[in-house]
Amino acid sequence: MINVALVGAGRIGRVHLESLTTKCANDVNLHTICDGVAPDLEELAADHKAKAVRDLEDVLKNPEIDALVICTPTDTHFNVIQRSLSAGKHVFCEKPISQSLRETLDVAELAEKHKKVFLVGYNRRFDLNYRKAQEIVTSGKIGQLQVLHATNYDYPGAPLEYLMDCGGIFMDQVLHDLDLLRFYTQSEPEVVSAMGNANAFPELRTIGDADVVNCIIQFKSGVIGSVDCSRFATYGYDQRIEALGTKGGVWSENKTTDNIRYSTSGGTLSDNPMPGFLTRYMDSYANEIVSFVNSIVNNTPSEMDALEAIYSLKMAAACKLSLKEKRMVEISEIKP
Ligand SMILES: NC(=O)c1ccc[n+]([C@@H]2O[C@H](COP(=O)([O-])OP(=O)(O)OC[C@H]3O[C@@H](n4cnc5c(N)ncnc54)[C@H](O)[C@@H]3O)[C@@H](O)[C@H]2O)c1
Repeated sequence: MINVALVGAGRIGRVHLESLTTKCANDVNLHTICDGVAPDLEELAADHKAKAVRDLEDVLKNPEIDALVICTPTDTHFNVIQRSLSAGKHVFCEKPISQSLRETLDVAELAEKHKKVFLVGYNRRFDLNYRKAQEIVTSGKIGQLQVLHATNYDYPGAPLEYLMDCGGIFMDQVLHDLDLLRFYTQSEPEVVSAMGNANAFPELRTIGDADVVNCIIQFKSGVIGSVDCSRFATYGYDQRIEALGTKGGVWSENKTTDNIRYSTSGGTLSDNPMPGFLTRYMDSYANEIVSFVNSIVNNTPSEMDALEAIYSLKMAAACKLSLKEKRMVEISEIKP
């Protein structure tokens, strides 16, 4: 059994708490829940027979704790990861590691130096449909990959205060799709071009951000990837990917709550996409935690480490620059 501490018991922390105590129950003892602010921390910890801790330092200096699952806000990740790896703990951290390339590289070095499992939660890689489509692409079943397109339209949409303070659409939302492009192509991005506008939230223009964007990425392998991303769709959480190869194509369509199609002479009706990320990606959140625990227990490599996270981070930074300067941006322009 490994002793795990959950750090940050907010929205996503409580999702991972569930996985740790159910799907991983054979391998994990939930030792501690640490949250600086959550008013119901003591009750939550007692419900899960875990210790309630307010100060991260008390987690780090406890030799009984083997691993941390970090679900604190993005701007705290680098600090918490750095301290945790240095204290000799295995680390799962929610995405992104950091918006800084330098800090992301530092995390990769630290994980290597301390020989600890480090997994960053790019959960799309752990979604069964996206993963199956990726296996079809990388196994060569559709021949040589030519183009790849990801769609990511949010629903019901985040509040404006969040959008103004999250690092922008590329670093916050498009990052997931850029990571999927890397996962499918297994190639290095070379050049990007991004366009965008702020229609639903015009206030975003004041910070140089957009609420709808289109990004095109040329990879060294020759594959052309693209992403359409919107902060809001009226009909549900629209999440798809499609790939065209020289011998065929593969499509991963939306998940719906039922699969009924209903037709009359007036037209055809079917269910809308799922109502948000917590329902659409619930399985993938569990799968990534199981993967992290398996890597520790079986001494196998992390399925999503810091070096792999660098590709999407560079693409997101290049897209941001492309939108700002209205030009194509070479990935080599993005320096630590
Ligand atoms: N992969 C995904 O699909 C996905 C979805 C949602 C959130 N996230 C990521 O998860 C992270 C958390 O998001 P959230 O929506 O759960 O946030 P949240 O605000 O709901 O929860 C964060 C919690 O961390 C606690 N906290 C803050 N600083 C702390 C510290 N130093 N030590 C201990 N506790 C601390 C806060 O009190 C709060 O309870 C973000 O980085 C976000 O990008 C990822």
